[in-house]
Amino acid sequence: MRTPIIAGNWKMNKTIEEAIHIVNEIKNSLIEDVETVVCVPFTSLKEVKKELAGTKLKLGAQNMHWEESGAFTGEISPLMLKEIGVDYVIIGHSERRQYFNETDETVNKKIKAALKHNIIPIVCVGETLEQREANMENEIVKAQIVKAFEDIEAEEMANIVVAYEPIWAIGTGKTATKEEANDMISFIRKTIMDKYDKEISDKIRIQYGGSVKPSNISEIMEQSDIDGALVGGASLKPDEFIKLISF
Ligand code: 13P
Repeated sequence: MRTPIIAGNWKMNKTIEEAIHIVNEIKNSLIEDVETVVCVPFTSLKEVKKELAGTKLKLGAQNMHWEESGAFTGEISPLMLKEIGVDYVIIGHSERRQYFNETDETVNKKIKAALKHNIIPIVCVGETLEQREANMENEIVKAQIVKAFEDIEAEEMANIVVAYEPIWAIGTGKTATKEEANDMISFIRKTIMDKYDKEISDKIRIQYGGSVKPSNISEIMEQSDIDGALVGGASLKPDEFIKLISF
């Protein structure tokens, strides 16, 4: 039985003050047996962590570097996130791949660094519209998965979450159909089974992301292989996010 996981990816939104307000709106509306995570900007992590004390709401960052320290101007290291008490970190979001030259190789390094520091990586994969129109989506996502998990040991896979986010569905209002999302997520599970084994692929949690909102969360969560959602826009509005976690 996989525990559902709903994570909000706030992206580059909200000041510290606004972040505190949002988490206070949602922290008392958590649902038993649904793991809930807020991935807030770096600047709000520490203050939000304080607000979450005594609640089951988990804290996530949206990126990190793979080195523990060094001459990497503008970067944040796993040690720094660990010090704050971050539980999760989003790795390889398509916006980072697209705008900040994140590659499968850096994704792989970051996953290894997160695992080393006991931060659970939420590893994002997904195809562009052009790739889907050319029927290449399986090939693309399979390559992303295989490269992301290069040299990752079987026993470490239990500490990883995957998020399938078709790029054409992010922030566009255009959601993948529940069948498209479930088909790809089953395919990701099979790819993981082929690399590891069935026990691991049955256990790993795989989220869907891309225009998830209160009106479509139920049908997404009803799918056999989908274990949760990574939510952008709708996670910024407390009332919508509460509806999402109570799917
Ligand atoms: P939206 O929910 O705004 O489409 O964003 C999805 C996303 O990128 C979450 O990481």
